[in-house]
This record gives sequence, structure tokens and C-alpha cells, in this order.
Amino acid sequence: MIHPAVLEPGGDAATLLYILSFSLFILGIRRGTHPTTAKQGNLIAAVGMVVAVVTTLLLDGIGNWWLIVLGIAAGTAVGVIASIRVQMTQMPQMVAIYNGVGGGAVALISWSELRHGLSLGTGFELDTLIPILFAVVIGSVSFWGSNIAFAKLQDLIPTRPIALPGQQVLNAFLLAGILVACVVMAIDNDSPSQALFIAVLIAAGLLGNLVVLPIGGADMPVVIALLNAFTGLSAAAAGFALDNVALIVAGTLVGSSGTILTLAMATAMNRSVANILFAGFGGAPSGPAAGGEERPHRSVTAQDAAIALAYADSVVIVPGYGLAVAQAQHAVKEMADELEKRGVEVRYAIHPVAGRMPGHMNVLLAEADVPYDKLVEMDDINPEMPRTDVAVVIGANDVTNPAAKDDPDSPIAGMPIIEVAEAQQVIVIKRSLSPGFAGIDNDLFYLDKTAMLFDDAKKAAQEIASEVTDL
Ligand code: TAP
Repeated sequence: MIHPAVLEPGGDAATLLYILSFSLFILGIRRGTHPTTAKQGNLIAAVGMVVAVVTTLLLDGIGNWWLIVLGIAAGTAVGVIASIRVQMTQMPQMVAIYNGVGGGAVALISWSELRHGLSLGTGFELDTLIPILFAVVIGSVSFWGSNIAFAKLQDLIPTRPIALPGQQVLNAFLLAGILVACVVMAIDNDSPSQALFIAVLIAAGLLGNLVVLPIGGADMPVVIALLNAFTGLSAAAAGFALDNVALIVAGTLVGSSGTILTLAMATAMNRSVANILFAGFGGAPSGPAAGGEERPHRSVTAQDAAIALAYADSVVIVPGYGLAVAQAQHAVKEMADELEKRGVEVRYAIHPVAGRMPGHMNVLLAEADVPYDKLVEMDDINPEMPRTDVAVVIGANDVTNPAAKDDPDSPIAGMPIIEVAEAQQVIVIKRSLSPGFAGIDNDLFYLDKTAMLFDDAKKAAQEIASEVTDL
């Protein structure tokens, strides 16, 4: 069933509504740049998306209403359930799967556009066919690559790099084959072969799997941001094929923000995007977890830690992935409150890639109502470290590892770190001497000034808070 004409495609009313929708996207992204306005930014962008979807549905020629209603109902149900059930620590894999279905949808839309054009029998203009081909390749790479990223982060397949012998050569052949097939279809633009198109769809999917499989789990957030950028570009290309300005602008926004995020994360780890994609980082773990001998270290109780903290003038808390796993943010805030009641200055040092996604620590601490002005970026807190009485590392590991500075052969060499070893005393709260995501031992644990408190982060913070109260 097709509704009576409401909005003319490309007409003034539709264009105005689309301009309104992507103005809201841009405003939403702008508001998303600060924790105090991020929630509002999300809502504004969501309203922009509603305007874009409703405008598109009201365009003359849109039909199949039952299918559309079914799609919206299924998508809404999945989205609502996921937003309630998915834990903060599972957010990267949720972003991966959402991004993947976006790419998959673009690939299928391209196929449907090709079939539609073939059924008209009028051939394709190159400025329509090229975006269709671009969208099917990138959309399919993004869908299948994101599925592997999801499976790795969800522990459905091993997170270590998995590579076939001669993998890079195989990838190069696949890519060359895809490009040749696309050129052949573009030359034959009067009636491009649908069989060849399906072969490209499948080959691009295979390429997506093969490119992501050899990448270690630790690098997945960067890969997800990159695939996100790909999905955006493929959506923008589909927008050109469909002549839909909202899709072009939204896709370009996703493409550019994904690219900026990818580069920002790579810079924060002092690695190139090529190194992340092709170096197979995060393979064999080293240190005690890998069966290596345990080195001498000093272990303390929550009571010892409470005394050291309560009598300090300045304390810097360094949160990491373990704080997120333990959901210790509220307990850590309680501990900080108790210390502040005694006149201790407490601040939080935020490393740009602490945790498993950008802004992970900011979001967690905001959830516990930690004031934003107590969160200090890595570059600003490092010069303060020598004047800090106690640095408390809670569930962080790689982002404090001095090997990044001191050992040029370390896999994390050159990654900027929070320089906790410069503080007068260090307390590290974690459950064991196990390595972090990079799989390497941390010399910080064995320094004379370091005290290890082996416990779950939440339990340890609660115990320290109550010990400080009783002092
Ligand atoms: P990690 O180096 O991964 O270390 C986390 C530590 O938390 C582990 O050593 C673990 O030790 C401890 N832990 C786990 N559960 C705990 C619990 N319940 N209570 C207390 N401790 C617990 O974390 P990080 O320092 O935040 O570094 C992040 C890593 O992810 C870096 O290698 C970074 O490059 C990588 N990465 C991050 C991103 C983004 S965007 N954030 C992107 C790409 C890569 P135990 O098992 O001994 O407790």
C-alpha cells in the first residue's frame, strides 16, 4: 500500500525538514563533547533522527507500510532491551554490533537499488552506479568485520590475533579481485551483472572477516571506530545513490567523527593505525600470568592503605578497566568523600585509553557524581605527580606501566602513561599480579614505593572507606 503524496522528494518541504534533522545531528554531537551536556546531546540527535525518518516515510512513493511498521517495532524492541540489559563494560561490543548492522543495511540497500535499476531496464548513470558499488563493498566489509569484533569482545571466539599463513597476500588478492569486478560492472553500466555484484558482496564480507581476525582484542575499540567510519562513508554513498540528502550528511558526519576518534585513540597509544591493523598486537601474555616466576613485591591490607591515605595531603586516584569490571565507582567516591572530610585533597587522573572505550572512566565517575573539576587529564596531572603523597591505582595496569617509557622493545613502547611511579607512595588495588589487556608484566608493582592491595576494587574501596571513618 502506498500513501497519498505528502512530501515531494527533493521538494522544499522535504529539504527543509532534512536540513532541520541534520542541524539537530550537528548540535547533538556538539553537546556530546562535554559530560554535563552529553545526555542532552544524545536526545537532540535522536530527535534529529526521528525527523529524518518521518520525513523519508512521508515522501511520495513510499509503500510497504506493514513491513516498515514491523521493522520499526523489531528495532525498537531490540534497542530498548539492549539499553536496559547491556552493562557499561559491554558497551564496545554493543557499538560494534550496532555499527555492523548499519553497514549490513547499507550493503542490502545497494543490492536492492541495483535490482530496482535492472528491473527498469534503462541502465545506470555512473554517478548512481559508482556510489552503489562503493556502498556494497564498504558496507559488507563493515558488517562482517564488526561481527568478528563483536565475537572477540563477547568472548565467542579467542581474542588473540588469529592469522592464516600468507594472510596479507590473500587479503591483497581479494581486494584486487573486488576492484576489478567493480570496474567491470561500471564499464557494463547498461546492464551490470547481478551475479558479479553478489560475488563482490560475498568477497567484501570475507575481506572484512580476514582483516579483523588477526587483530588482538585490546585493539578492538580502535577497529570498531574505524569500521564505524567505514559504515558512515558507505551510508553517505548510499545517500548519493538514493538521492537522499539526510543520508549523505548523516553518513559524512559518522565517517568524519569515526575517523577523528580512530586517530585520537591511535595517538593516545602512540601507534599508527597501520600498526594496529597489521601488527597482530596482544598475542602471548608475559609475566606471572604467563607462567613466569613471581617477582618480590610488597602486599598490604585495606587498613594499611587507609592509614597511608588518611594522613596524606594530596591523593591522586588512577582508575582503569578493573574499576569498571568491579563497578567500584560509587565505593571509590565514598572513599574519596571520607578522605576529603579529613582535609585530604583528592583528584582523579584520566588516561585517554583507560578502560575499553573512549571516555570510559569519565562516564563511570560521572555516574557516581564525582565533580568534573576533580577529573584531571593525563598531561595536566603528570607534572603534579612528584608533589603527590599517594597515587592509588584502582584496576588500572597498562596505562601506568613504566615500560612504555623505559623499554623501547616493549609492545606498548611510546604509549603515554600516567606517571604514578613519580608520586611519593603508590598503592595498587587489583586482584593479582596478572597483566592487563596488553598482556605484559608491570614493573610498577615491584618498586620499593609500591604497595599491592590484592582485592576486588569495590570491596577494597569499601573497606578503606570504613577504615578511614574509624580512624
Ligand atoms: P588494563 O591494562 O586492561 O588492566 C586492567 C586491570 O584491572 C587488570 O590488570 C586486572 O588485574 C584488573 N582488574 C580486573 N578486574 C578487577 C576487579 N574486579 N577488581 C580489581 N581489579 C580488577 O586496563 P587499563 O590500565 O585501563 O588499560 C586499558 C588497556 O586497554 C590499554 O592497554 C589500552 O591500550 C587498551 N585499549 C583501550 C582503549 C580505550 S578507547 N579505552 C582502546 C584500545 C585499547 P587483576 O586480574 O589482577 O585484578
